[in-house]
Amino acid sequence: MNDWKPDSWMKKKALHQPVYKNKDRLSKVLKKLKSFPPLVFAGEVRDLKKELAKCVGGQGFLLQAGDCAESFSEFHPDNIRDTFRVILQMAIVLTFAANVPVVKVGRLAGQFAKPRSNPTEKKNGEELPSYLGDIINSINFDENSREPDPDRMIEAYNQSASTQNLLRAFATGGYADLSYVQNWNLDFVKNSSQGSAFKKIADRISESLSFMNACGVNSETSKQLAESNFFISHEALLLPYESCFVRVDSTTGYFYDVSSHLIWIGDRTKQIDGAHVEFCSGISNPIGIKIGPSTDVNELLRLLEKLNPTNEAGKIVLIVRMGCEKIEKLFPPILKKINSAGKNVVWSCDPMHGNIEKSNSGYKTRNFLNILKEVKSFFNIHKVEKSYAGGIHLEMTGKNVTECLGGMQKIKDQDLGARYHTHCDPRLNASQSIELAFLLAEYLKEL
Ligand code: PEP
Ligand code: CO
Repeated sequence: MNDWKPDSWMKKKALHQPVYKNKDRLSKVLKKLKSFPPLVFAGEVRDLKKELAKCVGGQGFLLQAGDCAESFSEFHPDNIRDTFRVILQMAIVLTFAANVPVVKVGRLAGQFAKPRSNPTEKKNGEELPSYLGDIINSINFDENSREPDPDRMIEAYNQSASTQNLLRAFATGGYADLSYVQNWNLDFVKNSSQGSAFKKIADRISESLSFMNACGVNSETSKQLAESNFFISHEALLLPYESCFVRVDSTTGYFYDVSSHLIWIGDRTKQIDGAHVEFCSGISNPIGIKIGPSTDVNELLRLLEKLNPTNEAGKIVLIVRMGCEKIEKLFPPILKKINSAGKNVVWSCDPMHGNIEKSNSGYKTRNFLNILKEVKSFFNIHKVEKSYAGGIHLEMTGKNVTECLGGMQKIKDQDLGARYHTHCDPRLNASQSIELAFLLAEYLKEL
């Protein structure tokens, strides 16, 4: 740790990195990024760690949700607002059920770079390099668009900065005030059964707020009612970008990656001797680690030693993404071993990434029932092991997209084409997200 530097990852093998042809342009961009203001502050990152520490022991629940891949073309204040308010709604449903604080973390304001299973993509007989996320190249299918362009990092930073600015304003400027809980129901969800189920909770909250107001407690007297803590996160995949945002915190003298509160290491880049682990081992942010079917538990233990040698609670979130068929067999031995080694981790369930399928019509999709099945197994396994299921990790949007099959709207294969907008993986729409929150709430009540 002593000889760790923001660029010591360069001595290690870095998977899923673009090759930039124009080296001169690349170094100019990186120099510029190093001079840009931070997107988050170290103090906020420490606050998140404290909140995550509660999710280790059962005093909190982590809700991490947002886009699979943010894009330059979907960048619009309405999209940010709608995703934000669906996350708030989900948090209300979960808090109400579980009576524990919900820690809200968006996959937002920096979630641009994507690891891809195949380095190339074929269309109509033509083969081109894969799309790697808007921070690297363009989704358009022509040779020029697929060339990694360093200037895209500047655009991604700017978009992240204004997204974060708006999120801060929403969280603390009145929008998230609990007395507006009735306004968070989106128009197209209002008339559905999830909409009316949410309204029932909102009515009860409003009633309690009126009572508290009569006792002299309201948003003016209590900051907790007027504001909401909202944190941001993304996969720390593009290391040249991330390392520009490593800054020393003047209060503690520690390194922080100030591009986001929480960053995570993807399932494909978590090799113990790899560059991503090396990068993450030197910074003080909380770190998520994706746990897929190929995870070796002994290697995971070594990873925890390296990333969290002091076993600090709130530092590590293990994001389990086995798939609904594999979780029953593969997850219990991992859970047992990590828990019996006394490791302090937040156990979070990602029921999205192990359940991708191709629909008959050719769309990459996920079935709501499989997502639910994996969540259910995750909670059951924890129950059997007397362990705490401390969080959920979702790909969703506040828009009425048609990307995942099923849910109460009964989205079918032939409906997918209607509003399929994602740049990468299929997301739950607002209605499916709230439906999932209500079902999750049932499991949480039983803990
Ligand atoms: C993701 O979260 O978008 C992702 C690529 O996940 P994983 O690393 O688990 O495949
Ligand atoms: Co994804």
